Amino acid sequence: MRILVVGSGGREHALLWKIAQSPLASALHAAPGSAAIGELATCHPDVKANDLVALQALAEREAIDLVVVGPEDPLAAGLTDRLRAAGIAVFGPTAAAAQLEASKTFAKQFMARHGIPSAAFAVFDSLDAARAHVRELGGPCVVKADGLAAGKGVAVCDGPEDAEAALDEMMRERRFGDAGATVVIEERMQGEEASYYAISDGERVVTLTAAQDHKRALDGDCGENTGGMGAYAPAPVVNDAVEKRILEEVVHPAIRGMASDGVPYTGVLYVGLMIDASGAPRVVEFNVRFGDPETQPLLVGMQGDLVPLLDGAARGRLDNEAAVGFRDAAVCVVLASGGYPRSYPSGKPITGLEAAAAQEGVVVFHAGTRRAADGGFETAGGRVLGVTARGVSVAEARERAYAACDVIAFEGAHRRNDIASRALDR
Ligand code: AMP
Ligand code: GLY
Repeated sequence: MRILVVGSGGREHALLWKIAQSPLASALHAAPGSAAIGELATCHPDVKANDLVALQALAEREAIDLVVVGPEDPLAAGLTDRLRAAGIAVFGPTAAAAQLEASKTFAKQFMARHGIPSAAFAVFDSLDAARAHVRELGGPCVVKADGLAAGKGVAVCDGPEDAEAALDEMMRERRFGDAGATVVIEERMQGEEASYYAISDGERVVTLTAAQDHKRALDGDCGENTGGMGAYAPAPVVNDAVEKRILEEVVHPAIRGMASDGVPYTGVLYVGLMIDASGAPRVVEFNVRFGDPETQPLLVGMQGDLVPLLDGAARGRLDNEAAVGFRDAAVCVVLASGGYPRSYPSGKPITGLEAAAAQEGVVVFHAGTRRAADGGFETAGGRVLGVTARGVSVAEARERAYAACDVIAFEGAHRRNDIASRALDR
């Protein structure tokens, strides 16, 4: 099978690392890919992940059998619709189904219609009405820009004052452009967050497992929000009883609901959850793609072949008898450039990559690197590496991941030292 992965980050590196182990994969391509991904697949640096026309031309030219889409933007823009119309199988939802992530309003109304537990909400496209609403609520709430804002269009507020400031930024100053023309104001939920992953062909479902990521820049969940400073899987907060509830109350109703609404969901459904003290799950958000960096530990800990799942979902013939095993736990620690998530330098030489990868159970995924003049790698992004390790337990995986981090160096490197500690504290 000739497979093209769309994207260039750590998630896509992990997808290709896993796909490359499949006996079904005969040729691997990536668009645009990266220097590190180039060690696993033929990269097409001129074909950007958002260039739907060029992606279709590439898939046709390379006789691609299956396209696997990493990021959400091309999905929301209709890459799946375009490729399917051209007869190319693709893993990832249509533009209509990608609304589950691309429009918070769509997602909230969908959940309300199908009885999927989530925070109470109201939708506004008038600043005055939105302000009046947060004053009336009087307490904590969450303000969200409706559209895609690279994970940044969410303000978790303690009361009406910071909520009004967030509304001003989104609706009047348009900090997130048109994504903030409409806002959703939600009840602020309490509990522990986790994410859950399920693959569907529109009807059948194969479940993966739960993960937890670490969004804040600094230890103890302090500092600014980032794309994710690390992740681990499985997440013990999702025990068997909680998992059963997630499936019965969220995953199956969501897949059935999308089908009955006439927008069958194909691809991976990433469910962001808040789990309260009684073990009741409520949805924080849906994403229509794999998480980054959650995919890195998810795939390192996963047994068996990923390709039949991707291909089955893409072709509407997923084998839902296929049990996916997670014999191992895995932990991913992100090494970021100093200054991230704000401005940071690039071009810093990275040392120790080979020594780290030689350690037992360790895989180093590249999120933001490029080839240096001396043939090694240098930094080229905010999140630079996802140092990932498997182990028989989260504790062992974590120890290995940090030991590997210790042998990697670049100027200004920043990491969190408490990745996966919540799993160990339980
Ligand atoms: P989102 O982009 O919707 O996932 O929101 C980003 C982060 O904001 C989430 O991971 C949560 O930590 C937090 N958040 C979003 N919505 C809520 C809510 N209704 N209650 C509590 N926290 C929330
Ligand atoms: N790590 C969060 C996300 O992929 O959305």
